[in-house]
Amino acid sequence: MHSMSSSTRPRSLSGIQPTADSFHFGNYFGALRQWVGLQEDHDAFYFIADLHSLNERPDPSLLRQRTYASVAQLLAAGVDVERSTLFCQSQVVEHTQLAWVFNGLTGFGEAGRMTQFKDKVGRRGEENANVALFTYPILQAADILLYNPHHVPVGEDQRQHLELSRNLAQRFNHHYGETFRLPEPYIVKGTARILDLQDPTSKMSKSASSPNGIIDLLDDPARARKKIRSAVTDSGSEIVFDPETKPGISNLLTIFSAITGEDVETIVARFEGRQYGHLKVELGDVVADFVAGFGERTRAYLDDLAELDRVLAAGAVRAREVAAPVVVDVYDKVGLVRGV
Ligand code: TRP
Repeated sequence: MHSMSSSTRPRSLSGIQPTADSFHFGNYFGALRQWVGLQEDHDAFYFIADLHSLNERPDPSLLRQRTYASVAQLLAAGVDVERSTLFCQSQVVEHTQLAWVFNGLTGFGEAGRMTQFKDKVGRRGEENANVALFTYPILQAADILLYNPHHVPVGEDQRQHLELSRNLAQRFNHHYGETFRLPEPYIVKGTARILDLQDPTSKMSKSASSPNGIIDLLDDPARARKKIRSAVTDSGSEIVFDPETKPGISNLLTIFSAITGEDVETIVARFEGRQYGHLKVELGDVVADFVAGFGERTRAYLDDLAELDRVLAAGAVRAREVAAPVVVDVYDKVGLVRGV
């Protein structure tokens, strides 16, 4: 049971979109593992941001399948529903209800200045970009502020969205009275920045990396091993950790350390006098073992979709216990009629 009750622990909250068949090492070592760690001393809320993923109009059956796969992976990663509230965004109607109020508080220019929005419109072209892409950060603000979290563990790329959430909280409080806590971004210790195996100067990313540059948590072990063995390395032959001059080898060392928990220095010392190839062979095995175990745990969860539905239903009930009174309060404060 809890060592501290939920009321005394700081609250953390984060979400992830179900946009791929599998999360990758960048997601896992850069974020998901911290989610799991935060459960120890936080009242944690984690959700699948399925509504957010509608900004790409995904195939319906694929979206549903990926949502289940996302839940299963979070469970396999160690999100513990005894301690944390795990839910699906679309099953907690309060997210869209609060987002609508925030739409009314957000300036057109303000939303247009979000760099992620500008990047995506730039890539897709204006005719292929929809309004959900534009209002995306406003829904994200609702996701966050409904739970009044102290900490929101997110990657650097979400900093501006978090800033918008803080601004909206402040603006709402100013106009309608103290309601929301200003959430802090939480760039957690121990986060490993995992880079593209084929281009170790940029981060491992689903949208930007080539398939061989990414290791998926659900990769077949042999395939994952092969990707490590064909990772781009650097000139020279000495195994040292130096992200500036040896980005490729340093990335492999980071991955090694992230999986085994050994310090990078310890690993470097062990490989003294040996070649890149030796490191790749050993790391290939470590990675293959890791994805084998992860895949097995995930598939076990996916074998019982009815149980996943129950997990999500229970999570939604707990999330709504927090979120529903916030919407009642907000609707009241902005002057919507109360009803009976
Ligand atoms: N936009 C986030 C991402 O792409 C996902 C997300 C949606 C989120 N709502 C959130 C993250 C609320 C933290 C809090 O990574």
